[in-house]
Amino acid sequence: MTTTTDTTTTATTTVLEASGVTMRFGGLTAVKGVDLKVNAGEIVGLIGPNGAGKTTFFNCLTGLYVPTEGTVSYKGTVLPPKPHLVTSAGIARTFQNIRLFHNMTVLENVLVGRHTRTKEGLWSALLRGPGFKKAEAASEARAMELLEFIGLEKKAQHLAKNLPYGEQRKLEIARALASDPGLILLDEPTAGMNPQETRAAEELIFAIRDMGIAVLVIEHDMRFIFNLCDRVACLVQGEKLIEGTAAEVQGDERVIAAYLGEPFEGDPGAAEAAEVEAAEQNAAAGTETATEAPAAAETDAAADAEPDTDPAADAEPAPAPAAEPAPATEPAAGPAADSDSTTSKDGEAK
Ligand SMILES: Nc1ncnc2c1ncn2[C@@H]1O[C@H](COP(=O)(O)OP(=O)(O)O)[C@@H](O)[C@H]1O
Ligand SMILES: [Mg+2]
Repeated sequence: MTTTTDTTTTATTTVLEASGVTMRFGGLTAVKGVDLKVNAGEIVGLIGPNGAGKTTFFNCLTGLYVPTEGTVSYKGTVLPPKPHLVTSAGIARTFQNIRLFHNMTVLENVLVGRHTRTKEGLWSALLRGPGFKKAEAASEARAMELLEFIGLEKKAQHLAKNLPYGEQRKLEIARALASDPGLILLDEPTAGMNPQETRAAEELIFAIRDMGIAVLVIEHDMRFIFNLCDRVACLVQGEKLIEGTAAEVQGDERVIAAYLGEPFEGDPGAAEAAEVEAAEQNAAAGTETATEAPAAAETDAAADAEPDTDPAADAEPAPAPAAEPAPATEPAAGPAADSDSTTSKDGEAK
């Protein structure tokens, strides 16, 4: 496993550098002056209670939101806050709420993700114009490689909506990889996965890192995060509370108090999810952000559901994990359905 290298080492390349990123929504400051670097070869984790600003920070990194303050650089160049430019620069992402074209096949979904890297573009890809035919074979070969990589090659011709939930999450990763990124941002990639799927996702993320793609991952599953990540940053109420190795963050009393509830150990199952919710409610009760929450809640849901330039923006969200118990008592929380990750979704699709 690659560890954080000494900054004097010539081999260290900073892939992502966020400097002083602040995002305000009216009176609510969802992200406050966050600095974060991701170096080549690293897997960096971003943790924090629901409503801490993690997804908002991702939205700032990927140009879905224009940060109120601060800059985001990719390999030394400041990125314009436009999603398609961020994608073509080399940053790909997945969403907390899965976004796929659910009436398209698995293969077609990956091909859509490839459009930033083909001259023909999205519409040609969708309409299968004459120019597209030439590039088609090469694109399909690459897409099939990616499907093999995530283990879905046998389902290439299945409709995305018919995949079990865990496989939809993997397909979203394949689609993100299709843009040939240098950095991938994963927003709760194991939400809704069963323990076996979660373990497989861990292997998949290591394999992505080994392909030379840096990873920044948001997760609630602490065992997953601490196994996987070279460094972990913890956001609380929009601010970076601490950043360090898994051991440092795990043992930090402020993190424990603000988020974990108690020192991490064992299986992060339902008990942990309940603890997290309780901790959030305590945190929300004592802060100014809580007072802003009613206004924020609906726009938050909208923001997560409508990436205006994402190719999947017009697709219906994939079949939702309807049985998920929603932390409805916490108005400032992000989309509820994805926030806990302990139950199997395998049976939900036909
Ligand atoms: N588009 C938006 N408009 C207003 N408030 C928002 C918007 N997006 C997020 N928020 C608010 O910002 C805060 C952080 O939310 P979010 O980034 O989704 O947290 P996390 O991903 O850590 O759970 C929440 O209070 C949320 O309601
Ligand atoms: Mg979120």
